[in-house]
Order: sequence, then structure tokens, then C-alpha cells
Amino acid sequence: MIEKLKDVLTEIPTPSYFYDIDILEKTIDNLLSNSEDFLVFYSLKANSNPKILEVIRKKGLGAEVVSTGELKLALESGFKNIVMSGVGKTNEQIKLAITNDIESINIESIQEIEVVDQISQELNKTARVSLRVNPNVDPLTHKAITTGLYENKFGINFEHLGYALDKIKKSSNIEFIGLHFHIGSQITDMSVFKNLCIRVNEIIEFVLERKFNLKMLNLGGGLGIDYHNPNNIPNFKEYFNTLRKFLLKPKNVKVCVEPGRSVVGQCGTLISKVLFKKELANKELLILDSGMNHLIRPALYEAFHMIQNLTKIHENPTHIYDIHGPICESTDCFAKNVILPLTNRGDYIAIRSVGAYGEVMISDYNLRGKPHFIFMKNNKIE
Ligand SMILES: Cc1ncc(COP(=O)(O)O)c(C=O)c1O
Repeated sequence: MIEKLKDVLTEIPTPSYFYDIDILEKTIDNLLSNSEDFLVFYSLKANSNPKILEVIRKKGLGAEVVSTGELKLALESGFKNIVMSGVGKTNEQIKLAITNDIESINIESIQEIEVVDQISQELNKTARVSLRVNPNVDPLTHKAITTGLYENKFGINFEHLGYALDKIKKSSNIEFIGLHFHIGSQITDMSVFKNLCIRVNEIIEFVLERKFNLKMLNLGGGLGIDYHNPNNIPNFKEYFNTLRKFLLKPKNVKVCVEPGRSVVGQCGTLISKVLFKKELANKELLILDSGMNHLIRPALYEAFHMIQNLTKIHENPTHIYDIHGPICESTDCFAKNVILPLTNRGDYIAIRSVGAYGEVMISDYNLRGKPHFIFMKNNKIE
């Protein structure tokens, strides 16, 4: 619990990514207890911090990767079950996946079928592949994190699926095992997953009619988190029940999901200090010692994060501030019109729910250095 930090604030260097491992474990336990009939591959892109990965691997989740770096890290971290997507896989990446015999290479274009077949021939192997199909289902989320509409670059459009299947039939070193979908991220409206299932049912029928054997059906990630209530664990029960209710699962097919944000989002907090307070004609600004170099989501997609004054955590909010980073860009602003207690230079500020797509997007811009990383387990800082 973030409130517990109040007593140890002076021991915390800033800026710091603070990870609450108890929350992470509680989240995964909740996920697992609601998903017994699913295979779960954690999406490394959300957070690939080795300590976070260790917790996730120990809980028994598989890994979903999209690059050579992520694949190597997943292997080094000891993940046994790995699937790999990515619209721009390199030859090195495909080779590494085939030689390590990963569960599934999720192919995203017609040309990629030829390349994977060619590389597996050269290696004298057979690659297990799924086709990532773009189902043209609107995830009703921010356009920057929408991936399953025809205008997006991901997956094979349904119109080309027949041709892709024909190509697979002619490929000597490919074993087709299933279908993959991922339509977007931060999805909070369950009707989106219902619509996805309805579309997936039609696509399954299309594939089965062509006498292909389906072993694996991967519905991707996407479940959103409650950025306004950082202590809330995502509603895994409702999510998996929606999938169970609307997906017409063929017999002997393993249904998989690839959550990222919903696993790690709520366990991370960015802790920063107020460097300066500035008064403009009509507002007050707080300038922090961390900015878009450490957390780019607000600048990149106007993402909301709850912000608290940790030093004054028990005081009433009375003042309105715009909260900026120190980087030389006007978009380096975490939030506007945030109501906090009276805040001063040196106060500790908590930016909540940064466990997903936070640390992984850190940059060196302005050369201000990397943040520190702090972990809390059993209410103790490690
Ligand atoms: C192919 C794929 N699977 C899974 C995910 C994880 O999505 P999320 O973090 O929304 O659960 C992503 C992220 O966008 C992805 O591209």
C-alpha cells in the first residue's frame, strides 16, 4: 500500500519506480483463480523488469514476446511456454524461435509465411505457427492502442485468410496450429470482448470448413485497468466469463490469452520530488524531477494517471496544480488541474498505476539519467 511509504519517504531516492510485489502476486492469484480453463501468456512488452518477470514466471504463466530481445529475455528468465507475435520479425528472431521450439509463431502477413517456411527448411525443422487475423472489431479505446481494425498494420485481413491458408498448405516446414487475435489495449467495455468472440466464431468456422485442424485459439490481451482507482484489481472474473459465454470453442482446442497491462499495471508507482513551484497568471505549476523520459504515456496518448502528494497523504486536497516534468518539451506534462494539498518544493509525488508501459518506455532524452527501482514485498522495502 502506497500510504505505508509515508513513514520511509526520506529513504526513497527520486525519481524511483516503486513496485509492490504483494499487489502483483495478489493480481496474478486472482487471474489464475478465474482462468483454470485458459492458457495465460504474460505479454512481456508491458513490463520486462527481471524481478517482475521472476514473480510472473514462478506463478506459472507463459510468455508472449515480440522481438529478439524479449524472446531472449523470456528464455533466460526460464519461461517454458512462449508465443511470439510482431508485424516486423527479423530473420534472427524467427531462427531463434524455431530453434527453441516455441509454442507458436504468430504470423502477421502472407510474406511472413514464406519467410518462416524458408527459414525452417534451412534449419531442417518444422515451425509451429498460428495466423494472426485482423478481425476488424473496434476495441473502443484510444486510437493509438487500437490494433484490430482494418486500417491497422497488424495481422492478416479476413479477406486474405483463404489465400494465407492455401499458402500454409503448400509450405513443407510449417505446422499450422491455430489462430491469433489481439485488437487493442485498455479495453474496459466487456461488450468488446463479446463482439470479438462473435467474430472469432465466424473465422473459426471459415478455417474448419477448409479442413484445417485447430489446436490453439489465442484471443490476445487487452483487458483494461482502473486508472482512477489504483487499488482495484482488474475484473478477471467478468472478463473470462464473457469469453466463456460467447466463444464457441471447438473440442480439443486450447484457448489462450495474453494479458500485459492487467497483470502489472496496478503494482507500479512512479515516485518523484517537486523541484520547483511556478506561478503563471492563472495557475500554479509543479515541476518534478521525473518526466516523459521516465513515463511517456501522458505525453504519448494523453493517458490519465492518478497523482498524489505522498508527503501530505493525509491532508485535504485544496490547491489546483498542473504537474510537469523537467524535459524541454511542452508535452512533458503529467496532468493538468490536479487537486492536491498545498504542495511545496521537496514534497514527494506519487504517480500511480505505472506498472504497465512505464519502465519499458524509459528514454535517455535530455540525459537526465534513469530512475531508481524499488521493490516492496511483505510490506518491506527490498
Ligand atoms: C500481440 C499482443 N498481445 C498482447 C498484448 C498485451 O496487451 P495488454 O497489455 O493490453 O493486455 C499486446 C499489447 O499491445 C500485443 O500487441
